[in-house]
Amino acid sequence: MSSSSDRVAPSPDPAVTEAVLRGLRGAPPSLPSVLLYDDLGSALFEAITHLPEYELSRADARLLEAHASAELAALPGRLEVVELGPGGGRKALTFLAPLCARQGAVTFTAIDVSSSALDACRRTVETLAGVTVHTLEDTYLEGLARAPREAGARRVVLFLGSNLSNFDRAAAVEFLRGVRAALAPGDALLLGTDIGSDPARLVPAYDDALGVTAAFDRNVLARLNREWGADFDLGAFRHEARWNAPERRIEMHLVATRACEVHLCGEAFRFAQGTSIWTESSHRFDARELREWAAQTGFACEAQWIDARWPFAHSLLVARP
Ligand code: AVJ
Repeated sequence: MSSSSDRVAPSPDPAVTEAVLRGLRGAPPSLPSVLLYDDLGSALFEAITHLPEYELSRADARLLEAHASAELAALPGRLEVVELGPGGGRKALTFLAPLCARQGAVTFTAIDVSSSALDACRRTVETLAGVTVHTLEDTYLEGLARAPREAGARRVVLFLGSNLSNFDRAAAVEFLRGVRAALAPGDALLLGTDIGSDPARLVPAYDDALGVTAAFDRNVLARLNREWGADFDLGAFRHEARWNAPERRIEMHLVATRACEVHLCGEAFRFAQGTSIWTESSHRFDARELREWAAQTGFACEAQWIDARWPFAHSLLVARP
């Protein structure tokens, strides 16, 4: 028998270590954004979705509540559902409830890199009678490839919460191609993405008054200290959210407030005062761009819904033969 307190910190994945070192040596220095989403980071992100400034979560939920039935009506027959990055599972519940009513029972597979996010999602979704929940601790495409398939059912993949935003434009198209390759004709992808481009609303959404996003961002340094034995002084870095207009993205940066030297894996990294470590990008794609990518990657965009209060879109893409 082992309890969670027996667990030792997992030794860092060598590929991730390599990416961390490459990022920190870079000019400008950066860190892979996947590092943000350990168990603590995922919990902080879940808290972000409750912040008044981060209205995109509510826009996503409003669209689901208003249109889940229409989204389902566009997909007749028996369905099974897979969600990539499900968060706490609240959105899945909104989608699964009418589906359960329609077909009696449904298989739901949640895929995430954080096991605690998966546990939370399972607890939420299991409150609905008739749902069989599977969880896969994996990256999106790898998880999708090994998600168990229910014979005779059409697969619907939910990719909500603007999770696509972490990809730049080229990577987003490649990702859609990858999802399409894992689907059969008639399967579907429901994509929920923020389409806003007003920095007056977006910057506060990524630099909130309570400092939750700042904690989420700085957790990446805390994690390097915890898991890689680095010696970042968290007090020497402040969080900054920047709107990059030409690239249409929000960038999160950790700016050194004084000169400092940090050690990681036997290597020293110097940061002059004012230098920033770039930790995440959140891109804004517009509704038309999304439809064009769908067409280019083997999908047909069957419908698109846009929230009236915050520029957020649901795009229902159906895999073409
Ligand atoms: C999880 C990538 C959708 O880009 O809005 C939120 C991450 N970072 N606040 C986003 C995030 C800071 C989020 N995604």
